[in-house]
Amino acid sequence: MSSARFVDKKSMKISLRMLVLCVVALFSAESFGADPSDKQPAAERKDDKSPSDVADETDANNETQEVVLKVTCGCKGRELELYQQAAKEWEDLTGHHVEIITLPSESNERLNLYLQLLRAESQDLDILIIDVTWPGILANYLVDLKKHFEDEIFAFFPVCIENNTIDGRLVAIPWYIDVGILYCRRDLLEKYGHSVPKTWDDLEKIAVDIQNKERTNGNSRMWGYVFQGKSYEGLTVNVVEWFCSAGGGIMDDKGKLAIDTQSNRHMLNMICKWIGTIAPSGVLGYTEEEARGVFQSGNAVFMRSWPYAFALLNSPDCPLAGKVDVAPLPMSPGGRHVGTLGGWSLGISKFSKHPKEATAFLRYLTCRREQKRRAIEGGMSPSRPDLYKDKGLIQAQPFFAKLSDILINMVARPSSQFGSLYSQATTEIFNSIHSMIAGHRPIDVGLKQLNKRLSQLLDRINRHTGE
Ligand code: GLC
Repeated sequence: MSSARFVDKKSMKISLRMLVLCVVALFSAESFGADPSDKQPAAERKDDKSPSDVADETDANNETQEVVLKVTCGCKGRELELYQQAAKEWEDLTGHHVEIITLPSESNERLNLYLQLLRAESQDLDILIIDVTWPGILANYLVDLKKHFEDEIFAFFPVCIENNTIDGRLVAIPWYIDVGILYCRRDLLEKYGHSVPKTWDDLEKIAVDIQNKERTNGNSRMWGYVFQGKSYEGLTVNVVEWFCSAGGGIMDDKGKLAIDTQSNRHMLNMICKWIGTIAPSGVLGYTEEEARGVFQSGNAVFMRSWPYAFALLNSPDCPLAGKVDVAPLPMSPGGRHVGTLGGWSLGISKFSKHPKEATAFLRYLTCRREQKRRAIEGGMSPSRPDLYKDKGLIQAQPFFAKLSDILINMVARPSSQFGSLYSQATTEIFNSIHSMIAGHRPIDVGLKQLNKRLSQLLDRINRHTGE
């Protein structure tokens, strides 16, 4: 039996909802003008520490012994390179060593790997990257960082801190935020006299038009739209966007399952129709990087992805530099523009042999200066709100000013409702939706089955929490 405990469903629910609501509030027209850091006494603002300041904290009580920290990292875009640079800088400053372990690209596979290692009380991991949906699942295996970050907590999105606080323990420090966005080929829209689509119907019409004309003009590999259709966590992310953008969702406003609805069926039928027409059939095997590969090679008009792709699409060696716009994802009648909330935090394994050094490195990685560097060089969206108004950052990456409008539309995956069973719930969702959009299972039958399976999981959670 798993040692992961059932998390208090109510507190998880409040926490993720609050995460979305409060990020929305922070970015709303009124609050965006106010600098959250202005509200902090000047003496408490530790924003502009130099690297050696942060490194000095590292070595304050550990002057001689060098340690090797084992940390995990993804390989999406420039993620690994950015981490390697930070690690090298910290190594040079402190004399410690950092061994970076690259994880599988898919979020759900990463979680399975962590659970295997942590259940075996492995000492092979010191610092772990943690998806926004996992704090409730991993809390028991992570160190409480509260007392080490007391002086810094105010500088992060309060809702991210809340999301990462389980039963009063701060189990991870927010590192970067993600939100689903639409990437558009502005040059092609202009060439064929179209504007950025507001609805999914518009997207379809424009995609068909440009795809056909570009193919006639010689690019036989042109497609209209690419997204993440593989059976993995990224598909759950897309599904939440499809459903919510049409006025539906996985759960309704009261937190009740609402899978088998007309608007959800409508959206899935539309996606099925697109696969093989405006989206390549291969999209059923695409994660973020495969979709970006097609878009970045100039072979798609639209792409759904996360903010990290923007910096890559605009790097000087990319043929698309300066030709790409970002916009909120389209909606359907009765719905609204939404983007699923994503993002990663950093936590320390309870079984780490070097918690003190790991805490110091974690402070270094999440400090303001390092987050600003990652935002400028890698387009990673900071978890510190004041950076979105940092003149240097906005000048270097005006994209972040635009992103603040899109962050207003964030919606959460149902991780708070499923608590420690979220991993099972999302696996049900992506496997079952994949079989429907691949045409292996009729949509009405599939949605009913999915509703039943998810409802059994919710019953398990409710039984356990005594509701
Ligand atoms: C991104 C998001 C993460 C999500 C994953 C799905 O990494 O930040 O929250 O689970 O994509 O592929």
